[in-house]
Amino acid sequence: MSVLEIDRLTAGYHRTIPTITEVSAVLTSGETVAVIGPNGAGKSTFIKAIFGLCIQHSGAVRLDGVSLTGQPPSKIVARGLGYVPQVSNVFAGLTVRENLEMGGYLQRREIRRRIEEVTEVFPDLRAALGRKAEQLSGGQRNMLALARALMTKPAFVLLDEPTAGLSPLYVDRVWAQVRQVAATGVGVLIVEQNARRALEAAQRGLVLVEGKVAMNRPSTELLGNPEVIELYLGGEGSASQPATTGEAS
Ligand SMILES: Nc1ncnc2c1ncn2[C@@H]1O[C@H](COP(=O)(O)OP(=O)(O)OP(=O)(O)O)[C@@H](O)[C@H]1O
Ligand SMILES: [Mg+2]
Repeated sequence: MSVLEIDRLTAGYHRTIPTITEVSAVLTSGETVAVIGPNGAGKSTFIKAIFGLCIQHSGAVRLDGVSLTGQPPSKIVARGLGYVPQVSNVFAGLTVRENLEMGGYLQRREIRRRIEEVTEVFPDLRAALGRKAEQLSGGQRNMLALARALMTKPAFVLLDEPTAGLSPLYVDRVWAQVRQVAATGVGVLIVEQNARRALEAAQRGLVLVEGKVAMNRPSTELLGNPEVIELYLGGEGSASQPATTGEAS
C-alpha cells in the first residue's frame, strides 16, 4: 500500500503570484480521486505542480513519507509517479511500440515483457504496435498516453482530461481502462470536465475553484450535494455534461 500526500501545495508560473494556493490531497493505492472545477481553476497546474513542472512556492509532495519536492521529473517518475498531460501526450511521428519504449526507458531489459503486460489492457494498441501514433484515433492516442505512463509500473498516475474531445464511445472505453488500471492497485488522480462521470468513477472528489480547494469529500457526498449539483453537475435531472465542457482535444 502506497500513499501520495500533497500537503498545502502553493505553486504557479510567477515567482510571487501563485496560481494554486495551499492545495492538499491524499491518495492511496487503488483509489481514484477526481479533480473537478471550472476552466482556469488550476486543475492542470495542480498536476504540473506535483511533478515540479511549474514553480513551487511552498508545501510538499510526499510518496510514502519521502519528499518529492524539488526533485527533477525524471526522479519523480523513477520513484513511482506517472503523468499524462492534457495536450501533446504522445509522439505523433513514432510508432505505438516506440512510444511505449520511450515510456519504459527506465527498465530497458524488461521492456518487451512490459509492452506485453501493458497492451493486455489495451487490445487496440496491441493490434497497432507498428503503426505511427498520428494514424491513431484521438481515443486510441489517449489510450497510448495512458499505456505509456504505465510502462514504468507507477504506484500513481496523474491524468489530465484523458477523455477531452473524444466521441462518447471512446469516452466510455477510456473510462473503462482507467477503472481497470485502478483495479490493478494503481492510485489514480484524474482531472475531468465531466464532473458527474468523474465522481461516479472516483471514491473522492476535489473541487478546485480559483486555485483553492473548495471541497474535498467522498464522491457520493458530492454527487448528492445541492451546490455541487447546481454548479458542476448541470442541475438536478439534466444531462451529465456540464455547461463548461470543452471540445478541445
Ligand atoms: N504556462 C502557463 N504560464 C502562465 N500562466 C498559465 C500557464 N498555464 C496556465 N496558466 C494560467 O493558470 C491558470 C490556471 O490554469 P490551468 O490550466 O491550471 O487551469 P485548468 O483548471 O486546468 O483549466 P482547464 O479546465 O481549461 O483545463 C489560468 O489562469 C491560466 O491562464
Ligand atoms: Mg486543464
